[in-house]
Formats: sequence, C-alpha cells, structure tokens
Amino acid sequence: MDSNVRPDSMERITTPELAEAFIKEQVAALQKQIGDGKVLLALSGGVDSSVVAALLIKAIGKNLTCVHVNHGLLRKGEAEQVIDVFRNQMKANLVYVDATDRFLDKLAGVSDPEQKRKIIGKEFIDVFEEEAKKIEGVKFLGQGTIYPDILESHGVKAHHNVGGLPEKFGFELVEPVKLLFKDEVRVVGKQLGLPDNMVYRQPFPGPGLGVRCTGAITRDRLEAVRESDAILREEFAKAGLEGKVWQYFTVVPDYRSTGVKDGKRLWDWPVVIRAVNTKDAMTATVEEVPWPLLNKITQRILTEVKGVNRVLYDLSPKPCATIEWE
Ligand code: XMP
Repeated sequence: MDSNVRPDSMERITTPELAEAFIKEQVAALQKQIGDGKVLLALSGGVDSSVVAALLIKAIGKNLTCVHVNHGLLRKGEAEQVIDVFRNQMKANLVYVDATDRFLDKLAGVSDPEQKRKIIGKEFIDVFEEEAKKIEGVKFLGQGTIYPDILESHGVKAHHNVGGLPEKFGFELVEPVKLLFKDEVRVVGKQLGLPDNMVYRQPFPGPGLGVRCTGAITRDRLEAVRESDAILREEFAKAGLEGKVWQYFTVVPDYRSTGVKDGKRLWDWPVVIRAVNTKDAMTATVEEVPWPLLNKITQRILTEVKGVNRVLYDLSPKPCATIEWE
C-alpha cells in the first residue's frame, strides 16, 4: 500500500477521543520508526510543525531537536511564544536562532517580490543547515507535511514552498500528520495541549511580514507592519473574529502621502487592512468588518504606530487581487 495515500477506511478525526487514539497510534509508530535515533525539526510555530513537535516530544523526548529560526519577519510575540510553549512548558530541546540581522542585511535594497522570496527561502535553508551540522548523529528530519500538500491540490505550501526544506540532507523523513487534513491537525493539536492561538492560527506565509512590507524592506516600515498587525489581531480577537475570519493582516506599502498633525505637515506611510475568507486560497471574498470595529482599529493604528498617517481597508476580492500584496 502506498503510504502517501489516505485509506478510504480512515475515519475523519473530529473528536478528542479520536484524536487521542491517533496520538497513541502515532507515538507508537514514531518510536518504532526512530528507535533511539535523533530527529531534527524546523519549528515555525505554525500548527502543522507544532503538532509534529508535540507528537515527537511525546514519543522520543530529548532525542528531538527543534530549530526555530527567527528571520526577523515574524509577527509580534511569535518567537517568544514558540520558546515559551516548547522550551519552558513542553521541556523540548529547542535551538532558537535569531537571524534577523542576517536576513534584513541580505534583503536590503531588494524590491522584487520573487527575489525577496528567493533570498528568504535560501537564507532559511542555509541557517537551518548550519544548525543541523552542529548536532551530531541526526538521522531523521521531522516535517509538518499534511494531506493537501501531498495531493498538491490548492494547498498553500504546495504553491509557495519557501519554508519547505530540501531533501538534500539525506535524512529519513518523519511525517506523522501527512495523511491528515488541516481541521484534523487542529483537533490533534488541541488534544496535545497546544494553546488555542497556535492551534487555530490563521495561515502565515513562509516569507512572513516580508511580503507585507512591500518593495525594499526597511526596519522602520517593517516595525509599522508588525505593530499594526498586532493591533489588528488584538482587536479581531476581542471582537470574537479570531478563528472566524480566514486570514487578516496589515500591509505597509512603500509609498508616502501627506498628512497633518498638531499643525505640522506629515509625510508618512498608509497602513492597509486586509481581511478575507476562502476555502482553498484560490479565490477569496472580503470580510464585512463592522464599521465601528474598523474605526477603532484605525484610531489605534494612527495613534500607536510610528510613521503612519492613513489607514485603508482593502475591498478587493481574489480574483483579481491576490490575498497578499506581493
Ligand atoms: P495569494 O497572495 O497568492 O495567497 O492569493 C494565497 C495564500 O498563500 C499565502 N502565500 C504564501 N505562503 N509562502 C507561503 O508560505 C509564500 O510565499 C506565500 N505567498 C502567499 C497567502 O498568505 C495566502 O494564504
């Protein structure tokens, strides 16, 4: 039987009981596959790699090494949460690499979106490879492949495999959730005790905030993306929209316009809010965010985020606009 084909008899994991049975079965299978070998895992903090990490921690404990690479394009609080959950709470072996300067230096002055993606993807693999070399005797590479990735349907990862690691390492792959659909991965993640904001996290692209700081990335504009995104997420969560709207974020285009504050003329950036719903990311509709909420978010961004004088709401469906701005 092809191990990459989901058997018709496989029941959909929809309840804690089914998740528990899956976890038990996978932990046993992982122990059998790995024995006392060592596994390396690139842990982004997304639900797929987090669930794989939690399963491997259960199965092999300290023989797993998780590597969390901070490329400087993560959202506010993201790296801190990965460290807190996996190192402090789950007692995993976690290597944290703050490679912010390295990435931002390489990206300086680069405005072409595909070039930016290439740089981020290549640098990510280089950093990971350097860390891998420091750990002796690793035979296995853990991966958060899920079934849509295998089907190469419209899965996000299949389209933009920036975070995907090449098989050039010659490691044997360990992919415990490769036959699961996203909703099943979430049920399993919840059962494994991962925090809700990790389990129900919206999709976040591999190049991170880098494609939301359009054109050539600068540290000050990147900070404006990060701070405005944090405000948007906080206000959506307070309004009960977290987990209901498929994807929402802010973009800070490389463009300035005039404004005025305290009688002084400003020459600052706009922040664009984007909130969309979709099934497969191939088409998308715009969320009808209530006006008072948009107003509140606008006020907060204008007072709390440096270098910003306008807030816009992107009303464009996909097609013809893509979800991301780059
Ligand atoms: P677009 O902008 O193509 O986005 O309508 C569709 C979905 O794909 C995500 N996306 C990416 N994910 N690397 C990723 O891992 C990328 O380079 C990338 N570009 C877009 C986007 O966030 C949306 O969910």
